Amino acid sequence: MSTPLLEIKNLHVRVEDNEILKGVNLTLNRGEVHAIMGRNGSGKSTLSYVLAGKDDYEVTEGEILFNGEDLLAMEPDERAAAGVFLAFQYPIEIPGVSTMTFLKAAINGQRKARGEAELTTPEFMKAVKDAAGLLEIKQDMLKRPLNVGFSGGEKKRAEILQMALLQPQLCILDETDSGLDIDALKVVSEGVNKLRSADRSMLVITHYQRLLNYIVPDLVHVFSAGRVVETGDKSLALELEAKGYADFDETNAA
Ligand SMILES: Nc1ncnc2c1ncn2[C@@H]1O[C@H](COP(=O)(O)OP(=O)(O)OP(=O)(O)O)[C@@H](O)[C@H]1O
Ligand SMILES: [Mg+2]
Repeated sequence: MSTPLLEIKNLHVRVEDNEILKGVNLTLNRGEVHAIMGRNGSGKSTLSYVLAGKDDYEVTEGEILFNGEDLLAMEPDERAAAGVFLAFQYPIEIPGVSTMTFLKAAINGQRKARGEAELTTPEFMKAVKDAAGLLEIKQDMLKRPLNVGFSGGEKKRAEILQMALLQPQLCILDETDSGLDIDALKVVSEGVNKLRSADRSMLVITHYQRLLNYIVPDLVHVFSAGRVVETGDKSLALELEAKGYADFDETNAA
């Protein structure tokens, strides 16, 4: 059995003196897609930020192994170059930097960090055109400053566009479905599904079972009060939809 892509073991994390993650255990094998569902404030985004390496999170216990290596010892840019990608719940606006310029800097920055040749402008333009076409993103949007004035759904598409170009090993999607209209949900899900492969894994955070009809997960984890309290197959999402989280809160209190 090969090393899992991601192993989170007994992870405890504090933010400003509050313990937010309280012993998260999760193993993601290569090629697998796992969904994480859980109440507002249960710590899902906190987990995604800790994986990406955002500042201000204090890991007090536990470890995260990425390809068997200590992820927490790596800087955020090293993690990105190693193939960790987070599609933000709330994408950040970058005034003054066109989406195109941002994407080129991101992709070539990572290639450089890995010791690979940078993409030439024609190579880059073709890659963007192909990925944008797939996600039905208009070319004129790419000339606008990243996320500035983008609608909620446009921001989410722009996140997936970045992901499609960067071809990460670990894709973390934090509520990528929220704010997408019904047609956009299908388009974005198809874009995500095209990226599924035997050597790429995904953590898909969502509140809505409907997304999982399109992006069918191998496993579903229920998050409650800072840890995984239940893991099951995709039927667990249907059970949650029908019953809510109350049953799982009890599990957590026990
Ligand atoms: N900087 C901070 N200071 C204090 N508390 C914080 C900070 N960041 C997060 N928290 C708290 O940590 C808890 C977990 O937040 P998090 O954003 O991870 O939840 P979530 O599961 O992603 O929720 P949602 O489903 O609403 O997106 C919340 O109670 C939040 O208020
Ligand atoms: Mg969140």
